Amino acid sequence: MMARRKPKNLWLGRWGFILAATGSAVGLGNIWKFPYMTGEYGGGAFVLVYLACILAVGVPIMMVEIGLGRRGRGSPIDAIRRVALESGRSSAWSLLGWMAMLCGFMILSFYVVVAGWSFSYLWKALTGGLAGNDVSDMVAIFEANNANPLVLGFWSTLMTLVTMLIVGKGVQKGIERSVSWMMPGMVIMLAIMIGYAMFSGGFGAGVAFLFSFEVGKLSSEGLLAALGHAFFTLSLASGAILTYGSYLPDNSSIARTTFMVAIADTLVALMAGLAIFPVIFANGMDPAAGPGLLFMSLPLAFQAMPLGMLFATIFFIMLSMAALTSAISMIEATVAWLNESKGIPRVKAAWGTGILLWLISTMAMLSFNVGADWTLAGKHFFDWLDFLTSRFMMPLGGLGMALLAGFLLRNEIFKSELGLSSVQHVLWLFMIRYVSPLGIVLVFIDSLGLMTL
Ligand code: PHE
Ligand code: NA
Repeated sequence: MMARRKPKNLWLGRWGFILAATGSAVGLGNIWKFPYMTGEYGGGAFVLVYLACILAVGVPIMMVEIGLGRRGRGSPIDAIRRVALESGRSSAWSLLGWMAMLCGFMILSFYVVVAGWSFSYLWKALTGGLAGNDVSDMVAIFEANNANPLVLGFWSTLMTLVTMLIVGKGVQKGIERSVSWMMPGMVIMLAIMIGYAMFSGGFGAGVAFLFSFEVGKLSSEGLLAALGHAFFTLSLASGAILTYGSYLPDNSSIARTTFMVAIADTLVALMAGLAIFPVIFANGMDPAAGPGLLFMSLPLAFQAMPLGMLFATIFFIMLSMAALTSAISMIEATVAWLNESKGIPRVKAAWGTGILLWLISTMAMLSFNVGADWTLAGKHFFDWLDFLTSRFMMPLGGLGMALLAGFLLRNEIFKSELGLSSVQHVLWLFMIRYVSPLGIVLVFIDSLGLMTL
């Protein structure tokens, strides 16, 4: 029996992995993307499929990723290759690691643009730039913010810089240290925001929209979007969770941490929905307004409430920190790979990656102004990065890892990594062999139009 390798890096504290992984999962996906997708794909039906995907696909695959990371003790490419070889399988499985790493990089390339929106709205909240009293004012503010590439580029560049600065400092001194104060801070700010939202009233309309299930409303595209978003929101198949798992100490429970991360992530998404939809309905806005939804609706609500700009400030600080703790996890796989596998010092690896990231993210940023017409099949560059990663790369990567873990690796590996009771293990194996892969395949087939569910 082959033992687990010695790690090069480990989380320092008992809470290190939980904080970092929750920081990775809870992000713009929950607060920005989940509400606008729910709005676009019709509310409750989308939410239900999304929750099913989290439970049936996301949770079992997250356990696989953490297990692969800890067993192989390395970035996705190296960890997957080692674990495959350990079971006598082809080293070509490391291609899954390549795809994950590329996926994390591509996501970050558009993510920094949205994080830049958050930074700039924080600045506006502080300097009075959010003044306006109706929907059209807020739309105008959002559009003006996007129109100037230098302004928008300034904020996304700032986001890129801070991300690479933290990652360059290393696993313990950079990532763990920053999440260990940002995560508690976020929890406190979130609690304040929820209290505030409850006094503002209007929860009812939001609840109705999020939880009223109408089957007819869900298109095939909505199904695929829900599946992709389950991967996105849990940071799966993008190198983040696997790499963080490679720093997990030997005695930590993978199952328990997985459930904690998944529950926290789901709660934050639902709360964001509950905070945003009442504002949208109360002001007669279109729930299907797309990526600008959060930025056009919430400032309006803050405007109308006592101490609104104070709470807007707290909100955008929280949103920026949520974005940052996710951003560092997206690029850690690449930096860890350059460092561990290619021997490049971490700081150099971080700045090198950062420059490439800056070039690509600048192109994504230009999608909102000078490059608005550079479209392919109706989508601009920003949309393509999002579309390719969420709809294809993540579900495919997840499928590959599920098949690898479910059928091809020696049973003993996940028995010892997961340490489940025998009944629990059988359940996990059933999920990872049949339920998760079948779910992914069915959604794919359906979205190809070969089948109507
Ligand atoms: N989970 C993050 C969010 O919801 C996004 C993310 C995707 C982070 C992939 C890391 C890797 O915002
Ligand atoms: Na998330």
